[in-house]
Amino acid sequence: MFDPSTVDLNILRRRAYNLRWANVPADVIPLTAADPDFPCAPEIADSICRFAKERYFCYCSPDGLPEFKESMARYYQAKRQIPASPDWIFPVDSAAFGIYLTCKAFLSPGDEAIIFDPVDFLFRYAVEAADADAVTFPIPPGSAGIDEERLEGLITRKTRMICLCNPLNPTGKVFNKEELLFIGRLACKYKLIVLSDEIWSDIVYSPNIYTSIASLSREIRDRTVTITGFSKSYGFGRSAHRFGHGFQ
Ligand SMILES: Cc1ncc(COP(=O)(O)O)c(C=O)c1O
Repeated sequence: MFDPSTVDLNILRRRAYNLRWANVPADVIPLTAADPDFPCAPEIADSICRFAKERYFCYCSPDGLPEFKESMARYYQAKRQIPASPDWIFPVDSAAFGIYLTCKAFLSPGDEAIIFDPVDFLFRYAVEAADADAVTFPIPPGSAGIDEERLEGLITRKTRMICLCNPLNPTGKVFNKEELLFIGRLACKYKLIVLSDEIWSDIVYSPNIYTSIASLSREIRDRTVTITGFSKSYGFGRSAHRFGHGFQ
């Protein structure tokens, strides 16, 4: 499936917007916006075809299709060791929108949220959309460990949230269990929310072992909003329109 011969540039030049093939001149290779060039799995395409052939496109349940929520709860239990129940699942139309909604829900004007540096632009964008301040925590290159003392030193009376991006876009760092425990315990100690963006968590190479921060303890889980999506590992997700409209 991940064979370059499956990449159809003629289709991508017509459909891949958001600074990608449809937006750049023919002699430019876009190395931005992580929307895979590979086609999605045939099973996904077949399922969409089956759905379309039933020819009913009804209003959806406002809090998400029950069977989808059940399936996601099973995913979190089996793959991430988070004892999730379908009631805990809140489907939205992209990870980007999940980050935005979480910041809107938990941050008030004047609050502070700690974001990594470097990290995907979505974090600062969402924090600032809630009129809160993004406080940056430098992450060393590669897999080097975080400076725990410095992280705790950033917490003030205004801090409400730690935004975790694990694996970290753009450095690729996969946070180990000890680092996650430290972040989780800080959140419990200072009563902070952890926003854990795990959209890259299916793409992890050995010797790294992926751990979801919400799997570490009940106390940490109760303070964590875990966000994931299908746009990376399944090549199936849409969010770019949000930057044109919903995020204004
Ligand atoms: C770390 C991270 N979070 C969230 C997103 C947004 O994902 P989606 O397009 O599914 O909203 C991206 C997209 O590249 C990302 O790299």
